[in-house]
Amino acid sequence: MIKLEHVVKAYGEQEVLKDISFEIAKGELVVLIGPSGCGKSTLLRLINRMIELSGGRILIKDRDTRTLDPVSLRLGIGYVIQSIGLFSHMTIFENVEVVPSLLQQNKKLRRERARELLDMMGLEPAQYGQRYPKELSGGQQQRVGIARAIAADPEIMLMDEPFSAVDPITREQLQDHFLGLKTQIDKTIVFVTHDVDEAVKLGDRICILNQGLVQQIDSPKALLHKPANDFVASFLGEDRELKRLSRIPVTDVMRSGAHPEARTIEKHKSAKDALNRLLAGENSLNVIDDQNSIIGTVNLQDLQG
Ligand SMILES: Nc1ncnc2c1ncn2[C@@H]1O[C@H](COP(=O)(O)OP(=O)(O)OP(=O)(O)O)[C@@H](O)[C@H]1O
Ligand SMILES: [Mg+2]
Repeated sequence: MIKLEHVVKAYGEQEVLKDISFEIAKGELVVLIGPSGCGKSTLLRLINRMIELSGGRILIKDRDTRTLDPVSLRLGIGYVIQSIGLFSHMTIFENVEVVPSLLQQNKKLRRERARELLDMMGLEPAQYGQRYPKELSGGQQQRVGIARAIAADPEIMLMDEPFSAVDPITREQLQDHFLGLKTQIDKTIVFVTHDVDEAVKLGDRICILNQGLVQQIDSPKALLHKPANDFVASFLGEDRELKRLSRIPVTDVMRSGAHPEARTIEKHKSAKDALNRLLAGENSLNVIDDQNSIIGTVNLQDLQG
């Protein structure tokens, strides 16, 4: 879907991106991560041509982006940024409907879609739709920003630290909403973060940038298990084996049986979620399915294995 070929970006003498090549498949979510100033936002802006390349090519569906009209290119790409950028004089509904209304979509249909999207992001449309952005919390505004990007129904979404302006709990909720949403919408997503845990939780693959080059691009599990070099290893941190647990379902580490006095954990939770609770003092946890039936049990020894 997106192909970067020997991408170079220089600002004056400074080569921010030196030689970047990789491909993003249709429906894939690739997370870009790396130290501040390594060129993550620059790479996103090159994809939707908010800035121009100094060298190399970017292809979207096999077409060189330089041959495409920048306005139609950007209308086809959802862009979500940290500072949200909602229009303050428009209601939440109007904000979500910005691109559909530019594209002259039917008013009734686009309102229906806006309701659906707000609902998916956990915002009750009847309660929030007619409000103005300043009447929402930061985290709620970010959800509207995401709903707005999806409303245009772009095949590609570029997300630049969309969850970074909120507290850790809201952030986790937003990530969960987003993961749920991702299974319902078939989008190709490039997602920038500087939070390794967020990258591991959300990414199909993670691309680590440093000094203008890709240091490694791999699935979260592979990356955490086998860092390609010392930079990647230290960037991911000493606790990278623990981080790996967040991509392992609790059902992969449970044993059969049930513990008579144990509390429960839902089957879609991760081994990391289970570890969090066990470290908080629970001896065992029984894993339950959607019907609340126990399907197995897990304790610290299981996780050590
Ligand atoms: N318009 C510009 N003119 C000159 N230098 C720029 C310009 N925009 C960005 N840079 C420089 O390019 C480098 C990469 O910037 P970029 O915003 O892509 O970093 P980033 O990886 O997104 O960092 P952060 O994690 O802090 O957001 C930085 O050194 C920055 O100072
Ligand atoms: Mg940035």
